[in-house]
Amino acid sequence: MEKNIMLNENIFWVGKVDNRDVPFHRLTLTKGTTYNSYLLMTEKPTIIDTVDISFGREFVENLQSLIELEKIKYIVINHTEPDHSGGLGSLAAKAKNAVIVCSKLAVDELKEMYKLHNREFLVVGDGDILDIGGKTLSFIETPFLHTEETMITYCIEDKILFPCDIFSTHVANNEYFNDLAKSDIIEDYIGYYKLIMHPHRRYVQNMIKKIKTLDIKIIAPSHGFILRDNVQNFIDIYDNMSKDSEVSKKVLVLYSTMTGSTKKIANILVEKFQEQNINSKILDVNKSTKEEVMKAINEADAIFFGSSTRYADMIGNMEEILKNLNNLNLEDKIGAAFGSYGWSGEAVEVVQDYLKKSNIKLLNTSDIIKSTGMIDIEFPLRIRFSPKENEIKRIEGAVRFTTDLLLSVI
Ligand code: FEO
Repeated sequence: MEKNIMLNENIFWVGKVDNRDVPFHRLTLTKGTTYNSYLLMTEKPTIIDTVDISFGREFVENLQSLIELEKIKYIVINHTEPDHSGGLGSLAAKAKNAVIVCSKLAVDELKEMYKLHNREFLVVGDGDILDIGGKTLSFIETPFLHTEETMITYCIEDKILFPCDIFSTHVANNEYFNDLAKSDIIEDYIGYYKLIMHPHRRYVQNMIKKIKTLDIKIIAPSHGFILRDNVQNFIDIYDNMSKDSEVSKKVLVLYSTMTGSTKKIANILVEKFQEQNINSKILDVNKSTKEEVMKAINEADAIFFGSSTRYADMIGNMEEILKNLNNLNLEDKIGAAFGSYGWSGEAVEVVQDYLKKSNIKLLNTSDIIKSTGMIDIEFPLRIRFSPKENEIKRIEGAVRFTTDLLLSVI
């Protein structure tokens, strides 16, 4: 803690500036970052978020110079990733009377991560209020921004939003506030948005709706600059970049079916895309001419290729269509494989192999996890026999993900 930085009466920044090259999401943050933690010095002193796990002990030692740690009544954890919750283990050990405040989904994660099984937790959710003696906190759940358990804390009297990762920048700085920044922070702010928040833009829109009615004077995120100048502009950037494009997009679902189950998946895909207001077309490759299919591929923005598995291979004309993809420029198109199977479902993998050889933007689970952290989106869609309720949910997830990609404005 370099010095005491005051946001408003009795609200202090107590974080850590990290000037190192910080490894992050397989990138290196060459401008470093900050881990912003806040102390609300009220009748029931409250800490909002902590610092990276590497600085936990230093954080607690510095905090001791400001407050007797046993007097801390609440520690609010908005997000469990260890760059913000990392000081919790050291802090909770000294702040023995503190109740840990977090969302329902965060409780077990924090107990496991910091061995806090015997500590008192207060679970909060949308609209809950906490009186901290002289100030009042309210809570807003913001799932998937960028992990499932995340929430925002809002201090009602001071009109300060504490959104943790949301509205952050990765810049180590000793100016703390955006109006004191030595250069324009917008590029770093947008860069952070694109990397961390944009893959979850549907949830960004939900969050914007939830905070719309709040009077926000200061945004105090947990990385980089505290925003107190032109605050609405920073919210508008998130709003505009996360909106759906108004350009209409087309999806094509091609299938080759044996007993009708792959056709059923194809029909569900079309139905779900239509529910998302995406123009979609379906073709049975065994009942359409090759010219008709190739023309439809050319006109589509996303193409789903489906085949049942028979004797460990695709069936019908699907292979003939896939062989022709190499003659097309598909670099602006999204592609995915699907299919029903009874035993091992090799056809879906073979379709996937063909798509890998083309220059289509192939959707696959591994890349999605690496680029977004989402673990519940499945590509290719391999469905055993006929799709049932659980499989329909998997199809819906795949359709939502594809729709978000298709309608992204950036
Ligand atoms: Fe800054 Fe998701 O941690």
